[in-house]
Amino acid sequence: MLKVRNLSKSFVSPSGGRLVVLKDVGFTLAAGEFLAIVGESGSGKSTMLQTIGTLEPADGGSVELDGESLFELSPTRQAWVRNRKIGFVYQAHHLIPELDALENVMLPLLVRGDDRQLARRRAEELLGRLHLGHRTGHVPARLSGGEAQRVAVARALAVKPCLVLADEPTGNLDESTAEEVFALFREACGKEGAAVVMVTHSTRLAHRCDRMLRLQHGKLTEVFDKP
Ligand SMILES: Nc1ncnc2c1ncn2[C@@H]1O[C@H](COP(=O)(O)OP(=O)(O)OP(=O)(O)O)[C@@H](O)[C@H]1O
Ligand SMILES: [Mg+2]
Repeated sequence: MLKVRNLSKSFVSPSGGRLVVLKDVGFTLAAGEFLAIVGESGSGKSTMLQTIGTLEPADGGSVELDGESLFELSPTRQAWVRNRKIGFVYQAHHLIPELDALENVMLPLLVRGDDRQLARRRAEELLGRLHLGHRTGHVPARLSGGEAQRVAVARALAVKPCLVLADEPTGNLDESTAEEVFALFREACGKEGAAVVMVTHSTRLAHRCDRMLRLQHGKLTEVFDKP
């Protein structure tokens, strides 16, 4: 499903030098697999997810999703893949401020051309699962941090993407709400055969994934891979 090879990424640091964040990292992920990525703050986890999801250009390497080499696609095709195949949960939720919770979740469905009623039903179902049925009319500024995060999770899962890239999706949530998010990801792996990559600082949740990788000094090491 997902093949990441020799991915490298560096930034120009404010002092003018180069800050190397990813050094030839690679891994493969099968459909239905749930992978946790852990690592210290600043180790490059968000950078890695963003380059995999074509939100940030990489310096080198390749990412193959569902047989397509993402870095070789035209910008239009990349945008299509991001809309249809990748569900991205940003660390800072990045909801559209002018749209209410329901509309934010409906948006990717409408972009791909779904019927409005169907999109509405799917969005309501997801928000209901995340205990946000009573907040669907709130714009992001009128949501709590954890509520906004849950709306972002619902938006990422709305189209039933084949790859979910979630950057600390439970960072602002209490344990039981974090469980709901975890359960939704698990369901996406099981029922929908999605591959899920979840960056997390929660070792408790990470240990319940199928596999755990640690990002350290620009390299990935395997912590465990359950048979
Ligand atoms: N646009 C940028 N320009 C320069 N440096 C950057 C840029 N974005 C990130 N960095 C640096 O790259 C490193 C990795 O950042 P990244 O956000 O990927 O870390 P992270 O592992 O997600 O951390 P956290 O757990 O705190 O979210 C950091 O040291 C950061 O300062
Ligand atoms: Mg981060």
